[in-house]
Amino acid sequence: MPIAVPLPQAYRLLNHGPTVLVSSAYGERRNVMAAAWNTVLDFDPPKFVVVIDKASYTRELVEASGALALQIPSRAQAALTHAVGSVSGRDEDKFATHQIATFPAEKIAAPLVEGCLAWLECKVIPEPHNQQQYDLFIVEAVAAWADPLVYSEGRWHFPPETPRSIHHVAGGAFFESGELFRAADEA
Ligand SMILES: Cc1cc2nc3c(=O)[nH]c(=O)nc-3n(C[C@H](O)[C@H](O)[C@H](O)COP(=O)(O)O)c2cc1C
Repeated sequence: MPIAVPLPQAYRLLNHGPTVLVSSAYGERRNVMAAAWNTVLDFDPPKFVVVIDKASYTRELVEASGALALQIPSRAQAALTHAVGSVSGRDEDKFATHQIATFPAEKIAAPLVEGCLAWLECKVIPEPHNQQQYDLFIVEAVAAWADPLVYSEGRWHFPPETPRSIHHVAGGAFFESGELFRAADEA
């Protein structure tokens, strides 16, 4: 059962640079794609940036709805992440093809993908120039959730055997998030 993450701490969910799944919905249509090009932009209210290519179906749904969800898949979802990042929702219903289970978001229409480690429900802050020129979307999180198995009390914790987030390199190769350490302990 996901736990709510206080919005001023929502930046912590993406601060370590994971590849995300972006889900979107408009009317009866819904979709999901992968996005490695994302980062934190501000603490409070929490803002993020994500690149969404003009040719993508996601782009169409995000521009129409003004909302999207950023979700952090685990290594167990790496093949799924690569798959939904390799085909367009215009050509197939990726939820059906990959039997992706979802649950409803609280503040937006986009479905949330089950099994992820964290979820950010976001509204687009319209910046037409950035969107048109650079495919760059600035979004504000309006709700944030995490799996308490790996994130609680404002911290990620990835002990052995727990699922970890993934970081795309290129061509379907990923790093898995590694060992947490504190800079003070390394001094
Ligand atoms: C690991 C991975 C990361 C990706 N990162 C991005 C990204 O940051 N921005 C982007 O526009 N496309 C990215 N893509 C490509 C889209 O996910 C891909 O074009 C997808 O098929 C678009 O789906 P759609 O047309 O259903 O929206 C990535 C693909 C993969 C496999």
